[in-house]
Amino acid sequence: MSPTPSSGSAFLPTVAAMTETALTVHQTARPHGFPTPGHFAFVESALPVPGPGTALVENLYWSVDPYHREMMDADFALHAPLEGRTLGRVVDSRDPALREGEIVLHRLGWRTHAVVTPEQTRVIPRFDGAPLSAHLSILGGTGLTAYVGLTRIAELREGQDLFVSAAAGGVGTATGRLARLMGAGRLVGSTGSAAKAAHLTGQVGYDEVFDHRSGPSAELLARAAPDGIDLYMDNVGGEQLEAAISSLRPYGRIVRIGTISQYNSTGTPYALRNLPDIVEKSLRMEGFLVSDYRDVQDELYAFVVPHLQSGRIGLDETVVDGFGGIVDAFLGMLRGENQGKIIVRAAGAAGAAGAGA
Ligand SMILES: NC(=O)c1ccc[n+]([C@@H]2O[C@H](COP(=O)([O-])OP(=O)(O)OC[C@H]3O[C@@H](n4cnc5c(N)ncnc54)[C@H](OP(=O)(O)O)[C@@H]3O)[C@@H](O)[C@H]2O)c1
Repeated sequence: MSPTPSSGSAFLPTVAAMTETALTVHQTARPHGFPTPGHFAFVESALPVPGPGTALVENLYWSVDPYHREMMDADFALHAPLEGRTLGRVVDSRDPALREGEIVLHRLGWRTHAVVTPEQTRVIPRFDGAPLSAHLSILGGTGLTAYVGLTRIAELREGQDLFVSAAAGGVGTATGRLARLMGAGRLVGSTGSAAKAAHLTGQVGYDEVFDHRSGPSAELLARAAPDGIDLYMDNVGGEQLEAAISSLRPYGRIVRIGTISQYNSTGTPYALRNLPDIVEKSLRMEGFLVSDYRDVQDELYAFVVPHLQSGRIGLDETVVDGFGGIVDAFLGMLRGENQGKIIVRAAGAAGAAGAGA
C-alpha cells in the first residue's frame, strides 16, 4: 500500500488498528516565519516489513527539538519522513544484533514505526529510578548538551556566576541543575513566564530569573546580576547575547549553544552592537555541537544517575500524550509552552517493557 497523505492539516486521521498501519509525519511546505500545522501532514501506510539485517521498531517516545525548525528551511525533504531522536521497542527482528523486546534509541523519528539496522540504533542502558523518557531529557542529548557546555566549553569552576537563557527549557533546566551540583555561584536565568520562573527558583536551583519579554534584556540582566557574570550559556542569541556581553566580567566565557530567538525570524538577523567589549574584556566565545561529544555519554550517566536515584536531580519534562500530538508539541515548544524537555509519548508507552514512565 502506498502512503496516503491526510488532508494537509496536522491532525491525526482516523486509522484502523495501530498494529496494522503506520503513521509518518511529512513536511509539506517551507515556512516563512513561524510554521503552522498546515506545513505538515500525517501519512498512513501499511506497517513496514523488516528485511534481512533490519528490525521493525514500534516507537514509544519522540523528541521534538528546536533544530527541527532550522531543518524545515532546507534540510528536511518535502513529502518524506522526518527524522528525530526516538525511543522504541524492537517488535520484529531479522538481525541477531537486535533482540525483540529490547528498547533502542534511534533517529528515525516522527513516525509510529521504523525499520532500523543495528548501526542506526543504540541499546540504552536501564537504571533503577530513571524512567525511559529521561533518555530523551537529562540522560539524553539534552542533558549531554548541558553537561558538555558546562564541563568542556565553559570549563565551569566552583563559585563562578552564570547566566542561562531559555533557562526553563530542556537544555536550560539541565544546565541549572548540573551547574548547581558542580558548585556554581549565582545562577541567573531568563524565561518567558512567571510560572516557569517560579519553577526555576523553586525547584531547579536558580537564584534569580527574569522574563525576557518584560523589557530590554540588558536592563533586566543588569538588575538580576548587578555584580556581573563569569559565564553565559547562550541558548537564544540576539538581544540576550548582547546583554550578556555587557554583563560579563573580564576573561568571561560565552558558550554558544543555540539561537532560538532567530529561528522563526523573517527580518535581518539581530546585529550585536557591543562586539568591541569582547576584545576589551578579553572574553572568549565558543560554540559546539553535541553530536561531536558522544564519547562523553558514559561520563554523563556516571554523574547524573546517582543524583537522579537519590532525588537530588528532578526530571524537568513536558510530556504530550499520543503520536497525534507531535506537531502541536513541536509548535508549542517553539512558542515556549514547554517547561523542561518536550517529549511525545505513545499511547500505552507507560506500560511498555518496564518503561517506568
Ligand atoms: N549545540 C547543540 O548541539 C545543541 C543541542 C541541543 C539544543 N541546542 C539549542 O539549545 C537551545 C535550547 O534547546 P532545547 O531543546 O532545550 O529547547 P527548549 O529550551 O526546551 O525550548 C525552546 C524554548 O526557547 C524559548 N524561546 C522561544 N522563542 C524564543 C525567543 N524568541 N527568544 C527567547 N527564547 C525563546 C522558549 O522558552 P521561553 O518561555 O523561556 O521563551 C522555549 O520553551 C536551542 O537554541 C537549541 O537549538 C543546541
